[in-house]
Amino acid sequence: MALATSFFLFLSFTFSFCCVASAAHGPPTTPFVFPANKSTVVPNPRRFFPARLLSAPLPTNSFFQNFVVGKGDEPEYIHPYLIKSASSSSLSLSYPSRLSNSSIVGQVFVPDLTITSLNKTRPSAISRTRHRISAFSDLSVTLDLPSSNLRFFLVRGSPFLTFSTITRNTTRLSISTIHAIVSFCSAESLTKHTVKLNNGQTWLFYTSAPMRLAHRTFQITCSKFLGIIRIAILPDSDSKHEVILDKYRSCYPISGHVELTKPFRLKYKWERKGRGELLLLAHPLHRRLLSRTNVLENFKYKSVDGDLVGVLGHSWVLNMEPIPVTWHSIGGIRKKHFPEIASALREDVKGLNSTTITTAASYFYGKSIARAARLALVAEEVRFPQAIPRVAKFLRNAIQPWLDGYFDGNGFLYERQWRGLITELGSSSSTEDFGFGIYNDHHFHLGYFVYAIAVLAKIDPAWGRRYKPQAYSLMADYMNLGLGSFSYSYYPRVRCFDMWKLHSWAAGLNNFTDGRNQESTSEAVNAYYSAALLGLAYEDNHLTGIGSTLAALEILSAKTWWHVRKEDDLYGKEFTRKNRLVGILWANMRDSKLWFAPAEWKACRLGIQVLPISPITETLFSDADFARDVVEWASPSLSLSGVGENWKDFVYALKGIYNYTNALNKIRKLKVHDDGNSLANLLWWIHSRSR
Ligand SMILES: *[C@@H]1O[C@H](CO)[C@@H](O)[C@H](O)[C@H]1NC(C)=O
Ligand SMILES: *[C@@H]1O[C@H](CO)[C@@H](O)[C@H](O)[C@H]1NC(C)=O
Ligand SMILES: *[C@@H]1O[C@H](CO)[C@@H](O)[C@H](O)[C@H]1NC(C)=O
Ligand SMILES: *[C@@H]1O[C@H](CO)[C@@H](O)[C@H](O)[C@H]1NC(C)=O
Ligand SMILES: *[C@@H]1O[C@H](CO)[C@@H](O)[C@H](O)[C@H]1NC(C)=O
Ligand SMILES: *[C@@H]1O[C@H](CO)[C@@H](O)[C@H](O)[C@H]1NC(C)=O
Ligand SMILES: *[C@@H]1O[C@H](CO)[C@@H](O)[C@H](O)[C@H]1NC(C)=O
Repeated sequence: MALATSFFLFLSFTFSFCCVASAAHGPPTTPFVFPANKSTVVPNPRRFFPARLLSAPLPTNSFFQNFVVGKGDEPEYIHPYLIKSASSSSLSLSYPSRLSNSSIVGQVFVPDLTITSLNKTRPSAISRTRHRISAFSDLSVTLDLPSSNLRFFLVRGSPFLTFSTITRNTTRLSISTIHAIVSFCSAESLTKHTVKLNNGQTWLFYTSAPMRLAHRTFQITCSKFLGIIRIAILPDSDSKHEVILDKYRSCYPISGHVELTKPFRLKYKWERKGRGELLLLAHPLHRRLLSRTNVLENFKYKSVDGDLVGVLGHSWVLNMEPIPVTWHSIGGIRKKHFPEIASALREDVKGLNSTTITTAASYFYGKSIARAARLALVAEEVRFPQAIPRVAKFLRNAIQPWLDGYFDGNGFLYERQWRGLITELGSSSSTEDFGFGIYNDHHFHLGYFVYAIAVLAKIDPAWGRRYKPQAYSLMADYMNLGLGSFSYSYYPRVRCFDMWKLHSWAAGLNNFTDGRNQESTSEAVNAYYSAALLGLAYEDNHLTGIGSTLAALEILSAKTWWHVRKEDDLYGKEFTRKNRLVGILWANMRDSKLWFAPAEWKACRLGIQVLPISPITETLFSDADFARDVVEWASPSLSLSGVGENWKDFVYALKGIYNYTNALNKIRKLKVHDDGNSLANLLWWIHSRSR
């Protein structure tokens, strides 16, 4: 309730003082909230969240989103298990097998075990409700089945599925399988039970107190279940794995939080119960960044994201290499190239006028203003300052209406059920603005706006001061996390970024069989890079630190899971042979298709993983050999009908990384460019490669 009260105070406060200019350094002193309006398309969160959780912002692109949209019955991948809450009273888990060919890598959900209660449910209000989310954190979700009196502590990376009763009442527990039970035995202590299934799987059940379990061919029951059960699959028949599970059975995590203690460092901390050390699993990127050495290298589970390995400890520190966040090219451009870039700039800037932007759609509008903003920075870099005032004027005219709320045809609004920005077009349509109204793609669209705003605040500081509250409000919708004393109570900590997987998700409030997904990693990187630039523009080191850290992680994730190197063995031989880039990465699947193009249009796949071209592109594609492999793989598709000329921008941009001369020749001949790109920007990029 306290949160709800302060939230409404903010609203009334900001409506009366919304245009107060704030101090030059650090975050604005007055928070700004866009005008509130109802969305007719967001699902009602009350169906799955209890009232006490509704007073704070709710996650909209999370690892458990399927549990709170649609019927709540699509599975989610909570490593190493797929979890599906199929009805109001049962939960199934699957240790998925992998399916991989030249076009997809997927995991198949099979309900290996289904947990429910045999108590007759009373036809009361509670039994009619579906499962409930009784708590969530960065690294966990607690799912209750009230009509079965069962509570599941779903913690990411836990080799054990842990559950208890909700109340102190016993319940008649049933654990059934679609496979046949070929053997069942209980240890003398009655606290460990081993179940072998006819599909070859061995499952271990650990109970917090001695429990007598009965079994039939397809079902195990416990007539009076009270306490904790932890279930783990034995990843292979190696007895050393069983010894480890036995040893760490007693300490169980119930939630996990992430702190950004300083730039380029994350700290995970789990709240736990029971005795002994906490055993969890790390994915390949965790393992690279983990500074501690308590890794059980040989204790492995398989996963579409690569092998998961055991790590001991109730907190982990992840350290990454700092990355440069700069307005201009990192290494600079030789002076002899200035005239060619400046002459392209002159033309591109001349083309900026009131009719340049022909769309009201937030994504394409964002791309257009970010494109214009780049021209100002290129002008700075090649010492062509006479171009800047025209860009500044264009940006003021184009951006202000969105921030002042009088843009004709669209605009930003505040949605109060899940708590966040929506667009006017998205408020009554789940498909307009690519689903922005149901919280899809926020980091992509807003990243472009924030980029343009950061640049304008840099070249026109008076404008920057005036619109600082609005600028922060747009940015904080997707990156509110830890802005210190200035966290906005009206946005979630991070909207898209996944603190465990270490990259962002799109998809929003949609139910999808394979969980959340993300297509463009480069646009995700752009969002955090732009937030970091906003920090530079406002001399807010804290903001720059957070933005740079998330940008660095998004880049590492792109290199780990989207960039497919010939020598990698993550995705299987066939997929690796045919693909240098993943098209759409889903929580539970890798697809070679795009939302807007078939797998054969590889140049589009390349483009969507490169755009927009800016100084951060150099860090995202730092490996010249990989750039060459991607270009050689994608180039033949440039001649396919359907692959537009605009995609050449990105193929040649990557070519410039390893063959400057050849790429420059090709770029000079281009007649059209992508709507987010320009000849001046492309020449800037290529010449910045000639070192
Ligand atoms: C707010 O919503 C109402 C009806 O739901 C609509 O008539 C009105 O145009 C909306 N206002 C804005 C600014 O979108
Ligand atoms: C999503 O939920 C809706 C409504 O419950 C349902 O009709 C649809 O089939 C679901 N879609 C998927 C992909 O599961
Ligand atoms: C790959 O597997 C999927 C799912 O089974 C199937 O739909 C697809 O046709 C397969 N593709 C190829 C190239 O074999
Ligand atoms: C146990 O169940 C009874 C009725 O079945 C109910 O009245 C009581 O509140 C429950 N106890 C707890 C601790 O929930
Ligand atoms: C379930 O049924 C048993 C008796 O069969 C009873 O003792 C217990 O209280 C019931 N639990 C709930 C949660 O209703
Ligand atoms: C605006 O710029 C476009 C090119 O972007 C040009 O075709 C058009 O003539 C210009 N209009 C005005 C009014 O200057
Ligand atoms: C660059 O491309 C040209 C033309 O295809 C080729 O002749 C040359 O060998 C290439 N240079 C490098 C370094 O790859």
